[in-house]
Amino acid sequence: MDDKKTKAGDWRSYQRVLLPPVKDLHKLDVYEKHEGYKALREVLTTDKWNPTSVTNEVKKSGLKGRGGAGFPTGLKWSFMPPVDPNIPRFLCCNGDESEPGTFKDRQLMEYNPHLVFEGMLIASYAMSIKTGYLYIRGEFADWITLMEEELEKAYAKGYVGKNIMGSGYSCDIVIHKGAGAYICGEESSLMSSLEGQRAYPRVKPPFPAQKGIWGYPTTINNVETLACAPLIINKGGEWFSKIGAPSHPGPVLYGISGHVNRPGVFEYPTGMLITDLINEVAGGMRGGKKLKALIPGGSSTPILRADMIEGVTMDADSLREAGSMMGTSGMLIMDEDVDIVSWLRRITHFYHHESCGQCTPCREGTGWLENIVTRLDEGQGQLRDLDILLDLCTQMEGRTVCALADAAAWPVRYTIDRFRSEFEAKCSTETVPSGGVLETA
Ligand SMILES: Cc1cc2nc3c(=O)[nH]c(=O)nc-3n(C[C@H](O)[C@H](O)[C@H](O)COP(=O)(O)O)c2cc1C
Ligand code: SF4
Repeated sequence: MDDKKTKAGDWRSYQRVLLPPVKDLHKLDVYEKHEGYKALREVLTTDKWNPTSVTNEVKKSGLKGRGGAGFPTGLKWSFMPPVDPNIPRFLCCNGDESEPGTFKDRQLMEYNPHLVFEGMLIASYAMSIKTGYLYIRGEFADWITLMEEELEKAYAKGYVGKNIMGSGYSCDIVIHKGAGAYICGEESSLMSSLEGQRAYPRVKPPFPAQKGIWGYPTTINNVETLACAPLIINKGGEWFSKIGAPSHPGPVLYGISGHVNRPGVFEYPTGMLITDLINEVAGGMRGGKKLKALIPGGSSTPILRADMIEGVTMDADSLREAGSMMGTSGMLIMDEDVDIVSWLRRITHFYHHESCGQCTPCREGTGWLENIVTRLDEGQGQLRDLDILLDLCTQMEGRTVCALADAAAWPVRYTIDRFRSEFEAKCSTETVPSGGVLETA
């Protein structure tokens, strides 16, 4: 067994902690019977804990955000400014989840909503926050209803609201229905949306900890990130840091979709071999077909060819070495029959549709990416279109208010880089008169 193989340890005997196999765990009474709100009680009612020690425990755990960028969570919490009793501060739990290939937060909200509430309360306590917003993708109508019902029960039991468990600490949770656009999940536009404005991302700095919701200090974390907090308190930061890949530890929800026999959301340690996830966890390739390519962490993370994944594990270091990223660990698996150019056409359509239109390189660039990839897909493109596409990507990357432009450019850049011959095979052999090259398909 080589080094890479050992990162996820004996994953076959792994016991789930984020989504444990407990019937009706979404109900408060069942959650209570399985150590529910125990971590919160310990944090609020024993001398062992104070806001700083909670944050330090999260730092010790090595938890990195599960919303896509992988930022260290404890460090993010420590960016909040010192408490001023006259200045409110907010937590926002990001449940907008709209990127193609990403569908794991939905499972947590459906099957273990109290773990999410408890995580929000522990994070709020650590940052001396008294209001936490749970921003849920608007289309998740059923889960919004379910979470509202369960939140009401938690209020009735004194787990949320005023003087929680008689500790003197008060914190409200407000569930906010998302506004129906992918961009609402970007943290600064999420804040605009919460304030009732159009969901336009904001220029950073100032960062949310300096100037967030209503201009006040705010921390934004992903649903899965916050759900890890009660586990870290109950079992200790050290326990968490020893799960999976040492540089990117913890349990993680792998959302596996595409051409596998058993698509779904699977909880395992980080650092799993991609080949184990496909062949064992997800039941292998559908119809015995060959793997052609995969996207490891949601549609914006760079595509990998089948020959690039040998020995690669699902953690930031290994994926960086392989030429991609962990993102949201939403893995899109594609078999040998996939037409990569057609696939890219759908992806470019998505990003064009979802651009908020604020910045010119993104508003115009996403449109041109879609137009040119469409033209190539229909056999009307020219070889020089590939250079134009790559040039467009360069004009978009790192030049906009938010990262949606990068997310739109990377699938194009890496698909051309790694599947160039497939684009070339679709190019028209007819010559196009000079000036006709940028006409839309
Ligand atoms: C276009 C765009 C969409 C995003 N959508 C989401 C989302 O749906 N959920 C999420 O948690 N993070 C999303 N993010 C990342 C957030 O901006 C932010 O980094 C994240 O919520 C921070 O949480 P974490 O530190 O716990 O990972 C998105 C980012 C961009 C650029
Ligand atoms: S990069 Fe795109 S989505 Fe982000 S602010 Fe600019 S136009 Fe809007």
